[in-house]
Amino acid sequence: MLLKGREGAIPASWAWKKIMRFVVVIIAIAGFAALLWPSSTKKTTTTVAPTRAHSNITISANVKCDPDADMLQRLGVRKLAQYTRREIVVDFTEDPLPIRQRIDQPLLDVKVRGSGHTNELGEPQDGCTIPAPVAVVAPKPPKMADASHIDFGVATSVSRLNESLDQFAHWAGYTRTRIFALIEPEESKTKAGIAYVKAKADNLGINLFVTESEDDYLHRYFALVALLEENMREGTRWGCIIDDDTFFLSMPALVKALAEYDDTKPMYIGGLSEGIPQIAVFGMIAFGGAGVFLSRPLLSDLATVYDECEQMTYTGDRRIANCIYQYTTTRLTVDHRLHQLDLMEDASGFFESGREAPLSVHHWKSWFHADMPKLSVISELCGPSCLLRQWQFSDGWFLTNGFSVVQYSFPPEQNDLTMEMTWEPHNGATEESYLHELGPLRRKDDHKVSYLLEDAVLEENGRVTQWYIKRDKREGDQILELSWRKR
Ligand SMILES: *[C@@H]1O[C@H](CO)[C@@H](O)[C@H](O)[C@H]1NC(C)=O
Ligand SMILES: *[C@@H]1O[C@H](CO)[C@@H](O)[C@H](O)[C@H]1NC(C)=O
Repeated sequence: MLLKGREGAIPASWAWKKIMRFVVVIIAIAGFAALLWPSSTKKTTTTVAPTRAHSNITISANVKCDPDADMLQRLGVRKLAQYTRREIVVDFTEDPLPIRQRIDQPLLDVKVRGSGHTNELGEPQDGCTIPAPVAVVAPKPPKMADASHIDFGVATSVSRLNESLDQFAHWAGYTRTRIFALIEPEESKTKAGIAYVKAKADNLGINLFVTESEDDYLHRYFALVALLEENMREGTRWGCIIDDDTFFLSMPALVKALAEYDDTKPMYIGGLSEGIPQIAVFGMIAFGGAGVFLSRPLLSDLATVYDECEQMTYTGDRRIANCIYQYTTTRLTVDHRLHQLDLMEDASGFFESGREAPLSVHHWKSWFHADMPKLSVISELCGPSCLLRQWQFSDGWFLTNGFSVVQYSFPPEQNDLTMEMTWEPHNGATEESYLHELGPLRRKDDHKVSYLLEDAVLEENGRVTQWYIKRDKREGDQILELSWRKR
């Protein structure tokens, strides 16, 4: 995942001092080497610091350990300026917890002793690892959800479906829900492709049903209404139409949210765009990317007017809305936890808001970039309720679990609920255009220092390792590796 650098951000003065000290040392070393070993000058001066282990990765003298070369390759690091590791130990509680908690301890501003030292447990230190683990408290993870009463429908292609399975696995895997995919017929290889995709879905615990359709995308999208209706089983309460980049953060949370509604009545539930100009263009509709929820009675109503609605002017999510509005008296129920996320470029303010986690997000691999499956790896360790949870440390660092580690130039107060408006206004939008969904807002912090999550893995021993990176082409990248375990 590529992330836009924050060139122009002014580092805090301690960082400048470090960089200056580092530069002075390098100049001295390079000069000395040039004097003593003229034959090796070429090699020495092309690299900023002595390169260790791998000829094509430059590692700064600030890095007091030998980072794993495969890891650096995988993360696309060409120049490493700083590498810090810390262990995080999670305790669980059944008591209610705020999303943003304060921890009376620093996260990074801790002295790291060089190699040769041992930590409190007598383990040797490598010069990059902060010796003491930091302890955090998270809610006890919810039980696996039974979502057999919800069917999902998606219009896509075989290859996009194939790519989407890992993200579907996060929310749909082993929940007994079903996903109906309506795909465009492709070349002769399609049959093999479908078999491959279905086998992959089986392996991930996803009940996937694939149907080919000659219709174009937007017609196929509306055809999902009929497909879901025809396939309802006795226990089906909801049909939900999604885009292939609609991501649900927590199935237990989604099941709980839907239980707040009366599914014995016709219900049309969804999210509006976060931007008023988008609503002005597309209307008061359930925006497709957030997920469009139709209760069983509404699906039945729509089946009786399906042919009429097929003839309506607009297509896609607009056709669903207009069909409902023209042929029934059901109206949209907005659930503000469902998000189309019409946010351009930088959605970090949304993810770092310290508010209750959204039910759905969208546009995370197009309008802005946030690798949702990687963000969500942490839920393998501490449940989906642990994702996007925030801890504010005494040294000013905010850890938003799975997304980022940031330090603000003007940090929010303890009970500050404002969301930093980091995105680019779209389609003539102003700050006011976003208030109805995202307010209260505060202005963008141009000097925020951000480490953004770029990778995460579930280790064989049940731990989760996350890599947060602050990219800097000139000075070199800084990596923060957090290794999570349960107490
Ligand atoms: C760097 O070197 C490694 C082998 O040490 C190689 O696999 C990798 O492709 C190289 N990367 C670049 C960008 O040259
Ligand atoms: C699906 O994706 C995998 C890689 O994740 C690839 O090897 C495979 O060929 C793809 N299959 C289809 C049918 O696109």
